[in-house]
Amino acid sequence: MELVAVADLLLARREAALRAHPLAVVRGGPDAIIDDATVDLVVIATPPATHHDLAARALRAGKHVLVEKPLVTDPKHGYELARLASESKRHLFVDHTFLFTGAVRKILAYADELGELLYYDAIRTNLGTFQSDTDVLWDLAPHDLSILLSLVRRPPASVSAVGARHGPGDRESMAYLTVRFAGGPLAHIHVNWLSPAKVRRTIVGGARRMLIYDDIEASEKLKVYESPSTSEMDPADDVLRRLVDYRVGDVIAPRLDQTEALRFEIVHIARVLLDGELPISDVALGLRVVEVIDAAHRSIALEGTPVPLEA
Ligand SMILES: NC(=O)c1ccc[n+]([C@@H]2O[C@H](COP(=O)([O-])OP(=O)(O)OC[C@H]3O[C@@H](n4cnc5c(N)ncnc54)[C@H](O)[C@@H]3O)[C@@H](O)[C@H]2O)c1
Repeated sequence: MELVAVADLLLARREAALRAHPLAVVRGGPDAIIDDATVDLVVIATPPATHHDLAARALRAGKHVLVEKPLVTDPKHGYELARLASESKRHLFVDHTFLFTGAVRKILAYADELGELLYYDAIRTNLGTFQSDTDVLWDLAPHDLSILLSLVRRPPASVSAVGARHGPGDRESMAYLTVRFAGGPLAHIHVNWLSPAKVRRTIVGGARRMLIYDDIEASEKLKVYESPSTSEMDPADDVLRRLVDYRVGDVIAPRLDQTEALRFEIVHIARVLLDGELPISDVALGLRVVEVIDAAHRSIALEGTPVPLEA
């Protein structure tokens, strides 16, 4: 791939782009990219409220599009983009960056070995970067939801959520989401802009294996545990025996590919476009993430009442 052009409304950002890419065309508005016949793929890394308009213009101009998460913040806009991509036979990728990290790629590779998924528990807190044009759900929850939905590979049945607005602006700065799937697993996601510490920890419980993914760990981000074999436990055994059984089982910290996520993602996208590789993060996944977050907002307005999701 070759970088052809960069557009940003801000002069300082354009100057930085030119310093990093002296051979690229650098412009203020997106038209220089969208109207350029030599451009195959347009990458949209602007605030979420602008994604729909920019992605629609690029798709109408016959470009493939990679848009930052969240795809959009209104499901109706997402359905329209999905239709445009389908009609123009162009790919619409969503940058759910974590799916391209070595750790999450390993988790997804383990999916079948985990056995029946029982639960998914994630906490993601940032060190207080309040953003005026979005809230903590649109900012942080796409990361966890994209991992969860890629792992479960079935549409969720409902979401219930509670949230609070503590910071500047009238938007959620923390939220707890409970996502239910018909027949399991039960998923819980905590996102928070108000934490004194950055935490990015996920525990996945499967009937055969469980894993802990701690993205803050410099090494050994992922640990895989053999699950206690509850089916083999004799209920007549005493409690001590059962506790010992619970601890039996190997723990491994698999070796993880260190390739930078965005580098891996761009190579993957080139393979999708040139070799027909299946997209890891397509518009269907981006849309599902948007639907869950939209339903979570409706649940927050209903003080946590579960909101059903269409299959
Ligand atoms: N995947 C990730 O890990 C990750 C991390 C951070 C941000 N993001 C996403 O990236 C997007 C941008 O976030 P950010 O923090 O970089 O925002 P930002 O505000 O720092 O930068 C956005 C840039 O877009 C430019 N812009 C806005 N409208 C434009 C338009 N119509 N044409 C040209 N340029 C325009 C602005 O001038 C600004 O320079 C968001 O969707 C955010 O969710 C993703």
